[in-house]
Amino acid sequence: MISGTETEDKIMLEVLNHPLITHKLTQMRRKDTGTKDFREHLDEIAELMAYEVCRDLPVKPVEIETPLAACTGYELSKEVVIVPILRAGIGLLDGIRRLVPTAKVGFIGLYRDEETLEPHEYFAKFPKNLDEAIVMVVDPMLATGGSAIDAITMVKARGAKNIKLVCLVGAPEGVKALQAAHPDVDIYLAALDDHLNENGYIVPGLGDAGDRIFGTK
Ligand code: PRP
Ligand code: URA
Repeated sequence: MISGTETEDKIMLEVLNHPLITHKLTQMRRKDTGTKDFREHLDEIAELMAYEVCRDLPVKPVEIETPLAACTGYELSKEVVIVPILRAGIGLLDGIRRLVPTAKVGFIGLYRDEETLEPHEYFAKFPKNLDEAIVMVVDPMLATGGSAIDAITMVKARGAKNIKLVCLVGAPEGVKALQAAHPDVDIYLAALDDHLNENGYIVPGLGDAGDRIFGTK
């Protein structure tokens, strides 16, 4: 597994293998972990990842008064927009919003055709001014990369320029495809796994994220 930050021609992949994230992800990977525990671990990992993903958010100076003195403080200077890819991206939303409660939320509905693995769009709704915002596209799984590539193309078409992709588990194939299609997008993962199997599932992975979050299988 690759870890750390790789910056080459502005391509950035960060694998956040913090012990707490790795521990919780291991519980999610176990095949016997039920829907409730799976969802709760995902929610907690989302919050931990958000702390790291937000590390470089821009701030602006503001003059304030504490009970003791006037001083210069710093506040976030750009709006954050979180865009979960439905369905499974919903599982990351609340954890990130706990850290960035002022974030606005857009939604992209995509499902992967089980035969062709091609993503199909069924829903899109965005707040205004994506061009000014830091846009976080979130989805637990980056497999072939097709869904994330389409989602990022959609937010770019609405003006987004500063985009971060936040996923739990990525396959090398998906990372490569994403970097080729959108080299300007920073990618954050909790783990970079080994490979995709013949059905387009990440190995070792954690199975079908949407089904495990929503108990649909
Ligand atoms: C899963 C996952 C990603 C996509 C990843 O969604 O949540 O969106 O597959 O695969 P890709 O990188 O090969 O595109 P799925 O299409 O199963 O829909 P769901 O979230 O509704 O379950
Ligand atoms: N989508 C999932 O939910 N899991 C995978 O392993 C691949 C795509």
